[in-house]
Amino acid sequence: MQEFDTVIAGGLVVTAGDRTVCDIGIRGGKVAALGQGLTGRRVIDASGKYVLPGGVDSHVHIAQPSGEGIVMADDFESGTRSAALGGTTTIMPFCLQERDVPMRQTLQAYHDKAEGECYVDVSFHLIVSAPDNQLLGQDLPALVEDGYTSFKIFMTYDDLKLNDRQILDVMAVARETGALVMVHAENYDAIRFMTEQLEKAGRTAPRYHATSRPKVAEREATHRAISLAELVDVPVMIVHVSNRESMEQIRWAQQRGLPVLGETCTQYLVLTEDDLDGLGMEGAKYVCSPPPRDRESQEACWEGLRTGVFTVFSSDHCPYRYDDEQGKLNPKGRSSFRWVPNGIPGVGARLPILFSEGVSKGRMTLENFVAVTAANPARTYGLYPRKGTIAVGSDADIVLWDPERRVTLQHEHLRDGADYTPYAGMEITGWPVLTLVRGQTVVDQGELVGAKGLGTYLPRDRSPFASPAARQEP
Ligand code: URP
Ligand code: ZN
Ligand code: ZN
Repeated sequence: MQEFDTVIAGGLVVTAGDRTVCDIGIRGGKVAALGQGLTGRRVIDASGKYVLPGGVDSHVHIAQPSGEGIVMADDFESGTRSAALGGTTTIMPFCLQERDVPMRQTLQAYHDKAEGECYVDVSFHLIVSAPDNQLLGQDLPALVEDGYTSFKIFMTYDDLKLNDRQILDVMAVARETGALVMVHAENYDAIRFMTEQLEKAGRTAPRYHATSRPKVAEREATHRAISLAELVDVPVMIVHVSNRESMEQIRWAQQRGLPVLGETCTQYLVLTEDDLDGLGMEGAKYVCSPPPRDRESQEACWEGLRTGVFTVFSSDHCPYRYDDEQGKLNPKGRSSFRWVPNGIPGVGARLPILFSEGVSKGRMTLENFVAVTAANPARTYGLYPRKGTIAVGSDADIVLWDPERRVTLQHEHLRDGADYTPYAGMEITGWPVLTLVRGQTVVDQGELVGAKGLGTYLPRDRSPFASPAARQEP
């Protein structure tokens, strides 16, 4: 039999559908065979390890403009480094539309920033913040053709929010082009109202960020986004869902047969609003939107992951340094939670935390873990089966997990560009000990050994969930 470049021998190979002890033969960066007794120029002994597809994190912010005086903590080098250390081999950051700049020009700037800098593969979603005729009529359709097949829209944030009419217009373009719309669902006016009330009452500490964005504001917007998508008859992905009531809107829509997808994230499984209640400004480390909620909400998010209401599990990695005038502790941020930049780091911590809290603690199966962290995000966003599985012909993006390895999580394990992790001190059981990207070792025993620039850009197919066959004329 022909020799392989690399053989991963004798591990428990797990995909979203199956598990089996076998060898994997890798040739030319692809999985070339699954079998027994394979031989290769390099043999990696995987006995006693789990051999999983590399993680696909479909919700990540890197080097994104964040308002005056605020700088995101990660560039493509540090963001992809942390991803690789945490067992993720593909990330999907957002390209944020800038006012008066053609989207394609902004995209080119992101490509330039990423070029030669990445340790893992990268693909881009678009953020639509100003849906004018040029964008809707010309630019978006052309960009979808070119492999940018998903856009995120916001129902909140001063500079980003779209009104219902604008949302309908974007959804109509998605319907026309077969793109998938991702929605940040929180009610802008409700949050503004709450924020003003709290500030009037002198309640400006970081913990009031959570008070200002209650569950009901998320639930209402989730329901509205689903209703607008139903009107246009287009699939929709509700991202970063934090609580039961919002999850139930999605489940309700799914039970009615609507193509509504959901995403939850690490912070909604393991943090609560009490984490925002630290001494002084410490709570700013946990300020993100929607905010972490309570124990019951955590249970609901676990339930959504187990039962398939949530298709994907992401990090919503959106890193700002804490002890930094351009980060969480910017001068205005000290005056009110309103000015604390929203977002927390998590691209490296996502998989170890879900593995430990989910698989090791018996809340989910290994197959379910692979489904929500790799196969489903790859499928949902048009990268499957190149990414997200271990099958003949797939990219050899493979991670060896030691299910027994115990780690007390610290920022030094993650090495993103922030100066903290909101998950510091968590006891983790199960750790990614070897990360291969297209057959090349990027991380070995927690050491970064791969070359920067190994990661490449991935244009994407349309999501199968957005295929025309599934839709009727409205
Ligand atoms: O607080 C968050 N999640 N910031 C990132 C931007 C977003 O809404 O995804
Ligand atoms: Zn968002
Ligand atoms: Zn986000």
